Amino acid sequence: MTRDFPENFIWGSATASYQVEGAAHEDGKGPSVWNEFEKRPSAIIDNCTGDVSCDQYHQYKKDVAIMRDIGFDVYRFSLAWSRIFPEGTGAMNPKGIDYYKRLCDELLANGIEPYITFYHWDLPQALQDKCGGWQSRDCAKYFADYVEKTTVALEGRCKNFFTVNEFLGCTDQGYFNGVCAPGIKLTKKGRNQVRHNMLLAHGMGLQVLRDVMPQARVGIAENPVFMTPVLDTPEHVDAAKRAFREINGHFITAIMEGGYPDSYLEAEGGDAPEVKDGDFKLISAPMDFLGLNIYYGRLVRFAPELEKKYEIFFDDAATEWTDCNGMFQPAAIYWGSRIVNELWSPKEIIISENGTSNMDRPAADGEVYDVFRIKYLRSYLESMSRAIRDGVPITGYLHWSFLDNLEWRSGYRRRFGLTFVNYRTQERIPKLSAKFFKELIRTGRIA
Ligand code: BGC
Repeated sequence: MTRDFPENFIWGSATASYQVEGAAHEDGKGPSVWNEFEKRPSAIIDNCTGDVSCDQYHQYKKDVAIMRDIGFDVYRFSLAWSRIFPEGTGAMNPKGIDYYKRLCDELLANGIEPYITFYHWDLPQALQDKCGGWQSRDCAKYFADYVEKTTVALEGRCKNFFTVNEFLGCTDQGYFNGVCAPGIKLTKKGRNQVRHNMLLAHGMGLQVLRDVMPQARVGIAENPVFMTPVLDTPEHVDAAKRAFREINGHFITAIMEGGYPDSYLEAEGGDAPEVKDGDFKLISAPMDFLGLNIYYGRLVRFAPELEKKYEIFFDDAATEWTDCNGMFQPAAIYWGSRIVNELWSPKEIIISENGTSNMDRPAADGEVYDVFRIKYLRSYLESMSRAIRDGVPITGYLHWSFLDNLEWRSGYRRRFGLTFVNYRTQERIPKLSAKFFKELIRTGRIA
């Protein structure tokens, strides 16, 4: 039978430190902005915290054994910066870095390549207090320092790195509408500077990685607003491309093109961020891969009657389907990756996140029959396979997520995992989707 994916395709899954580690105040770890933010009443549904979560800090061996059984090639996880540098800068916490060494060693011993994300939104609270966190350019310097020292301390255990995960979840949600940590509401000008400072952190982090580990492979994991043309005709496809480039002007377009597009600068006017000489040389330095977190996309039509000549609208049909995260638009993975490829021809694209949530529960026989997730996977993977057939250089797919975990301000209700977690006992139950994923990896086919 023919395969849907090449032999050397990379399969795995992703998590983030705050969402899975627990041990929030153990072994010298400093608090992160999320450990502070969660104390605010109702900041997180049910007022839950990341204190224990899936306890991966202690359960990692059990987790790696499940990953091995599924057959993952890689595991993407993020480092808790404040576990390694409790103050964000200064002295390294030996117990903190030791944990990540042990995790990498366990993965490697089981044939799984660690893919590290340096920043998945859990800034050390000490840096928020010291300099206003990402409001200050200094934060990018502290980030680069953390990246450098951590990479050296890991002594070559990891070779694949994502500098930053999804800018927006930190910049706009953390510092503009305040719904995420650190829960600040800046003006547009302030927000735009935060956005720029984070781009700079990516650029500076990338540069130090090149310096200290020339053989490292480095990229980002970004979730731009993806666009799906209403029809596959040249005028609608072209409209979707223009819309995509402009709407994402402040992050992915700026990185890939080495500057903010005119449309962004015009729209922001006097609120545009301050950019220093040399910033964009760092920010747009070549990456080894581009990680795209693809969940859904907006629809776009060619609209000759409008000034921009395109109209973006929400895909109502995308909300019909899952009861939790409510977004089902498989075409996003095809169009998202194809448009990125046509615009900027990245060397390699990794789907660094894709997945869905529900209120999964074990059935009477103890199994978790998450058939909706299998339906989701089939549809999205067909769409990814189509992109590969059309020449889009997608080399890997990392499912979000390996485990049910703390879904930020949505708490523990939304379950995104291939593996069910009983938060009371820390028992793990690989769901039916984990078995589907295992077959997919074994055969290279969407069954
Ligand atoms: C984030 C994850 C999050 C997932 C599901 C992504 O945007 O990187 O941390 O859990 O979406 O909402």
